[in-house]
Amino acid sequence: MEPAASKGAPAHAVAAGSMRVESPAMRQLPIRPRRNRRSAAIRSLVRETDLGPDRLIYPLFVMEGRDAAVPIDSMPGQARLTIDRLVAESRAAHGLGVPAVALFPAVEDDLKDRTASGALDPDGLVQRAVGELKSALPELLVITDVAMDPYSSDGHDGLVEDGEILNDPTLEILAATAVSQADAGADVIAPSDMMDGRVGAIRTALDAAGHAQVGILSYTSKYASNFYGPFRDALDSAPRAGDKKTYQMDPANVREAVREALLDVEEGADVVMVKPALAYLDVIRAVREAVDLPVAAYQVSGEYAMIQAVAANGWMDGDALMLETLTSIRRAGADMILTYFARHCAEVLNR
Ligand code: PBG
Repeated sequence: MEPAASKGAPAHAVAAGSMRVESPAMRQLPIRPRRNRRSAAIRSLVRETDLGPDRLIYPLFVMEGRDAAVPIDSMPGQARLTIDRLVAESRAAHGLGVPAVALFPAVEDDLKDRTASGALDPDGLVQRAVGELKSALPELLVITDVAMDPYSSDGHDGLVEDGEILNDPTLEILAATAVSQADAGADVIAPSDMMDGRVGAIRTALDAAGHAQVGILSYTSKYASNFYGPFRDALDSAPRAGDKKTYQMDPANVREAVREALLDVEEGADVVMVKPALAYLDVIRAVREAVDLPVAAYQVSGEYAMIQAVAANGWMDGDALMLETLTSIRRAGADMILTYFARHCAEVLNR
């Protein structure tokens, strides 16, 4: 029996034997982007950007001691770890497909001084952490941070004199720090200080010390950002006086990021990085288009904290935000992403 509605009604109202509504207007629409979104199967085939654990770098905080972890209040889920715990956490992430970790030391106040001399100690915290990581997990890529701030009594990334951050004298300290970390076994050195000429100075020093195979991941355009707050809590590394605006970049600028990237290419960087990530997607894109080197982006502590905070309030879905933001950073042009979500994201992606 025919549905009553079709009796004598025009063909475009309701087709006989089905509830499908058709209209002449619809038949005149041959181009329908929604066809490629109809099912999970077609969506997966047309997806333009992949996010896999193999694109992630896990930043970790290391401290002295044994078998201990001190949670970081403003970074729920993250903690300062003793070296043994650091190895265990790295092993777990590596087992889930995360290829690399980046180390940040939490240094006791009495080991900090004006010249950040602690950074050069061959038996220092970072050097020992690198050694233990490389012997436990030889295939894990270990990246070390070069900047004076964790070891500086001034809390700045460079040498301070009369309130000024000195550029050229800082370069020698950074280069010596890089060599010390390479001696300890670091695979990649990541200068995060934003001094002029540091990539070239570090490259020259590494080569002279026989570390031609050690790479440089340069914090090429690191902005003077409010998103670093939780990280400075984690390391107690905030500047004791002033701010970082005479060396870190003005958030208003993007051409300057390209200029920095071209300089890093000339000075011998292996990877250029933009930091922070989510508020700087246009910068990632501009750098991606300006240079042929791989591009990294750092989803920093404040970006992580914001997602964790809204998730804890039940205001948004934290895992969904994690995947969406990381995918957006990849889409903007980042080949690799430093993120505190690395381990958790790998767990979610492996489900
Ligand atoms: C310092 C350094 C900072 C971060 C990485 N290295 C903070 C700063 O510049 O004050 C921030 C990372 C983050 O917020 O997650 N050289």
